[in-house]
Amino acid sequence: MRIDVLTLFPEMFESPLSHSILRRAQQQGIVDIVLSNIREYAAERYRKVDDTPYGGGPGMVMMCGPMFDCVEHVQAQGAEPGRIIMLTPQGAPLTQEKVVELSRSPRLILIAGRYEGFDERIRQGLDAEQMSIGDYVLSGGELAAMVVIDAVVRLLDGALGDEDSAANDSFSDGLLEYPHYTRPEEFRGMRVPEILLSGDHGKIAQWRHEQSLLRTQQQRPDLYAAYQARQDAQQQPKKR
Ligand code: ADE
Repeated sequence: MRIDVLTLFPEMFESPLSHSILRRAQQQGIVDIVLSNIREYAAERYRKVDDTPYGGGPGMVMMCGPMFDCVEHVQAQGAEPGRIIMLTPQGAPLTQEKVVELSRSPRLILIAGRYEGFDERIRQGLDAEQMSIGDYVLSGGELAAMVVIDAVVRLLDGALGDEDSAANDSFSDGLLEYPHYTRPEEFRGMRVPEILLSGDHGKIAQWRHEQSLLRTQQQRPDLYAAYQARQDAQQQPKKR
């Protein structure tokens, strides 16, 4: 997979991309992550990438020109035009389901904005999707782009070692993960649940499933309701 990131602050990505799973995935050729600085595509003498909004109001708006030039430049570097994604709180919320879908694409082009927002014609003219990582406002799209990269790359074939499988992740079956324990058996008076020490794999699997259900019900009633609705639908006899 190739991931292009268009940003005014490519340096912000250096540390997250040079550790652990993301670093290994790049070294192994599983993903090629290419950073481009939008400012290098600003034509004017002052390298301007933003301007005041038509109609007045606070803040600055990212201009079309440098963004279109930057996208077209990176698109010309590969056979695939790529799926263009703008990170913005106005976007559709990122979910694990969406992450799985993105991980199947051969190329993503992530656009991280700054300032008050993007000129609307960037979305329109580039036919870009808008994506949000949550209902809160960040100072720019860079951290959101890093979240997308991390969540997507760990799903690519070979990105995780055998020891860390994505199959048991929270959300992979619509439920939160069960609680984990490791040595020692007792820490400051808190004991590991006996069942986990029993060696009975059937009972352990059942306990873990129950814990997943309980946690989801307590922490994420929205996910729990969706899970139950799916279970009910599966149990309904099919109508002829
Ligand atoms: N840029 C600023 N806030 C954001 C958010 N919540 N998600 C994605 N991009 C953003």
